[in-house]
Amino acid sequence: MEPTYDVLVVGAGCAGMRAAIEAHDRGASVGVISKLHPTRSHSGAAEGGINAALGNTAEDSPEMHAFDTVKGSDYLGDQDAIEILAAEAPGDIYQLEHWGAVFSRNGEGRLDQRPFGAAGSPRTVYAADITGHVLIQVLYEQLQRRMTQGMKVYEEFFAFRLLVEDGRCTGVISWDLMNGGVTLIRGKSVILATGGVGRLYRATTNAYACTGDGMSMALREGLPLKDIEFMQFHPTTMYPSGILITEGCRGEGGYLINKDGERFMQRYAPNALELASRDVVSRSETTEIEAGRGVNGSVYLDLRHLGPEKILTKLPGSRELAMTYAGVDPIYAPIPVRPGAHYHMGGVETDNQGLTGIEGLYAAGEVACVSVHGANRLGGNSLMETITFGRRSGHAAAEYALGAPAVGNGGEAARADAETWIKSLLGNTQGERPWSIRDELGQTMLDNFGVFRRPEKMEQQVEVIAGLRERYDRGVVIEDKGDVFNTDLTQVIELGYLLDIASCMLQAGIARKESRGAHSRPYDFPERDDANFLRHSISHWKGDGPELTYGEVRMTKWEPMERTY
Ligand code: FUM
Repeated sequence: MEPTYDVLVVGAGCAGMRAAIEAHDRGASVGVISKLHPTRSHSGAAEGGINAALGNTAEDSPEMHAFDTVKGSDYLGDQDAIEILAAEAPGDIYQLEHWGAVFSRNGEGRLDQRPFGAAGSPRTVYAADITGHVLIQVLYEQLQRRMTQGMKVYEEFFAFRLLVEDGRCTGVISWDLMNGGVTLIRGKSVILATGGVGRLYRATTNAYACTGDGMSMALREGLPLKDIEFMQFHPTTMYPSGILITEGCRGEGGYLINKDGERFMQRYAPNALELASRDVVSRSETTEIEAGRGVNGSVYLDLRHLGPEKILTKLPGSRELAMTYAGVDPIYAPIPVRPGAHYHMGGVETDNQGLTGIEGLYAAGEVACVSVHGANRLGGNSLMETITFGRRSGHAAAEYALGAPAVGNGGEAARADAETWIKSLLGNTQGERPWSIRDELGQTMLDNFGVFRRPEKMEQQVEVIAGLRERYDRGVVIEDKGDVFNTDLTQVIELGYLLDIASCMLQAGIARKESRGAHSRPYDFPERDDANFLRHSISHWKGDGPELTYGEVRMTKWEPMERTY
């Protein structure tokens, strides 16, 4: 039997590892469960940087950072949480730097900062264009150090159910990917840090692991998802693979051009141009493509004028990706790019300490909605959120656990029940293969709930999801009956999560009769409607579907204004 930890962290990307480190350093015993080896977590795919108002390149302040974030969120972000992020970010960056993060430096030897979209000052600290990769290595080193002091990492364990006893979360039930078998691991507190759900869309920057596991597990335990209709489309994902080409390319001066070679952002955002907020740039690109001014459903990102030296020193990873996956060397030719699903602004509702509505259960990173991103996230703010709110949730979960009563020995019945369920999935011989449902879901979400949202398409997508759910519930066939790395099995479970989140997104999206941030309805509700919709959507799971209510946005000092870029 596995031991009981004070704090059990689910997920080992930047948020999970930062939470685990903090909980350990506060004196808690810590277990970490991760679907992947930690350094393969999707945080490692983050490229362009992490935002903190250090003021190393131009005048900046936490106040400016907070205001840009509030405005970028189209005023849906909770301003108290945003102020915390902006105020605590600089200290968190220096902590990472002291741990060994090799951030790029300016001529004075200070941490360099590059411009990013919708930021009033160059605020994005970076490590060339592999910032996530660097952070994940540094955090894993810190984890390894603590593993010699008792921390335990269950890598390649797929968490698929929360254990909630008498209203308190006391553990997690997982499938051991390497060996097979259902395991119950207990914690006096649990932190979800399982990331997002970008795999709901066929065109996405997200890794195959990003299937909304934590969001759905929480939803099914009665917790609300907040602002779940807001999926961010990143403007520069490579055609055809969907691999991210960092906003840092535009921060360093890259242009977007259409098939005629026109720098079209001059027409859409004459001041900010390519560095308008992501929702604005993605809509502009989609308008160009739909008007027939694209090439193969894409526009071009042109870096040629930056010259080889800048590309080779500041954007070497982007060049390599473009050469490998698009057959284009950006020193000599523009890269084909298009908007792709990138980041979920919504997630499990938490307070500013990461606490959810279930005692002992916390959440941090993309799985959570604190909310610092509102209707549209600024590039560079999500890595910062993982660190700052990962740390805060680790602290809070440790404090709670160290004062909380011991967890009991219950849970065996829940584990046995989960094992029976897995056996029934594996035993099913009638039905279709899961990938056909998954592929249809990804394509139709892109067609019907993408950058622009048309009323009839959204209604159509509700029907599509209902049909896919019916096929899924009728039973899908897992051909691999083995115990070792049975991705056939785990993909079936993940597909259930994807369907849950898609249903919530559609319901909240149809009900939000306005255009705000990433939720754009140009054909029926083209304007933002603060009178009726300056409020968070709150989705619960009731019976066999989602149910929607609304919650207040927490405002401190910024009244909503029109957003211009
Ligand atoms: O474009 C990028 O480098 C992505 C950054 C982010 O999503 O924060």
